[in-house]
Amino acid sequence: MAVDLLLGLQWGDEGKGKIVDVLTSKYDIIARFQGGPNAGHTLVFNGKKHVLHTIPSGIFHEDAMNVVGNGVVIDPVIFKKELDKLEEQDVNYRKVLLISRKAHLILPTHRLLDAASEASKGKAKIGSTLKGIGPTYMDKTGRNGIRVGDIELADWKKKYRALANKHQAMIDFYDVDIQYDLEDLEKDFFEAIEVLKSLTFIDSEEYVFQAIKSGQSILAEGAQGSLLDIDFGTYPYVTSSNTTAAGACTGLGIAPNKVGEVYGIFKAYTTRVGSGPFPTELFDEDGETMGRVGHEFGATTGRPRRCGWLDLVALKYACQVNGVTQLMMMKGDVLSGFKTLKVCTAYKYKGETIWHLPYNIEEDNISPIYTEFKGWKEDLTKMTDESELPKELNDYIAFLEKELGIPIKIVSVGPDRKQTIFR
Ligand code: GDP
Ligand code: IMO
Ligand code: MG
Repeated sequence: MAVDLLLGLQWGDEGKGKIVDVLTSKYDIIARFQGGPNAGHTLVFNGKKHVLHTIPSGIFHEDAMNVVGNGVVIDPVIFKKELDKLEEQDVNYRKVLLISRKAHLILPTHRLLDAASEASKGKAKIGSTLKGIGPTYMDKTGRNGIRVGDIELADWKKKYRALANKHQAMIDFYDVDIQYDLEDLEKDFFEAIEVLKSLTFIDSEEYVFQAIKSGQSILAEGAQGSLLDIDFGTYPYVTSSNTTAAGACTGLGIAPNKVGEVYGIFKAYTTRVGSGPFPTELFDEDGETMGRVGHEFGATTGRPRRCGWLDLVALKYACQVNGVTQLMMMKGDVLSGFKTLKVCTAYKYKGETIWHLPYNIEEDNISPIYTEFKGWKEDLTKMTDESELPKELNDYIAFLEKELGIPIKIVSVGPDRKQTIFR
């Protein structure tokens, strides 16, 4: 059976966690393929909110297997905290959570390096979540990393020490004031490693291969969003992994011809957390309203998210890079009450009108050209059927479908599992 992908099409936080949870009943296996604890995926059901960072969003369904793929980077300390939270909720994860031996480990010194690197950048900082993501992927591609499978080997601590020592020298090199007590951090780290070791490690590419062969259905859950992709995002203000469709192939060992549906998920407006260009960003009352009504605060860091109008140029680009076959529009309910809605349909770029994402979308070069839409007043949050949606929202949806040439199959009207309209 083919593997379906679920990918964020903007700068992350589109609502991936919610939709994976909604779709899990249709799948045998949910698999994360990249990113790590920089992600914060929120699920709401039975009046309770849950935030997952590294654990796939299928974990609350008893029947689904949850795979942490080789492309993911794991911080054992954060992973342990996630497990503790699951235990508090009586989630029996032991039999359904599988971890790739090839996933890389985030060491305490990776986190410190992240902080040192950001501090040294001053105003040009990436706005990283400071979870050690960049340094860990650097060690992976630099062929120095420590993988989950290593901790099953007798002499892995030697390798750990050598790498941590090297990291300490690098932190010194940055010449910034980073206070830390490594012994203390390592105590937590090695405790968490023991917890990790009590879970099931697998050769995940083989597991996925056999699952596909035997006809099991798999949903690959992306983290972050296409505009944070290391290759195709707004570099250098990106994360350090491929968040786009190809990342699912390398992050799980799925052959490209085994990819089935590509679900692209986007908010009806745009948000971004951290630094970097954002052509449709709003600094006015409208932006403030989106942030307030949409509760736009980072699920991992609590930072306020920057808000702005939907950027169709960027969205089209993301659909192209990913080969999106179905769209899901989130948080339409947040736009209720806006008199006029705007969608960026082109850019003014160095004096010319363009319809694609150029190399450099820094503010000085680019300004958005908007198409305006009449807003709707109705509260969408109690609606359960497509037929209830207001005309103005249907017009908005129809315009996006026509421009993107891809059907919008889900309209989400609230954070809860149940607030989901299928079209
Ligand atoms: P993810 O990282 O893509 O999983 O998204 P986050 O969980 O970081 O952020 C999405 C936020 O929006 C969470 O607080 C969700 O509970 C919430 N959310 C998801 N869908 C909707 C929706 O349709 N309407 C509203 N109002 N909130 C939503
Ligand atoms: P989910 O999966 C939103 C952003 C950070 C920063 C940049 C680099 O919840 O959508 P990193 O920690 O990776 O070095 O940060 O990427 N970022 C996210 N923004 N949602 C996320 O994940 C993000 N993960 C990283 O804010 O700008
Ligand atoms: Mg998030």
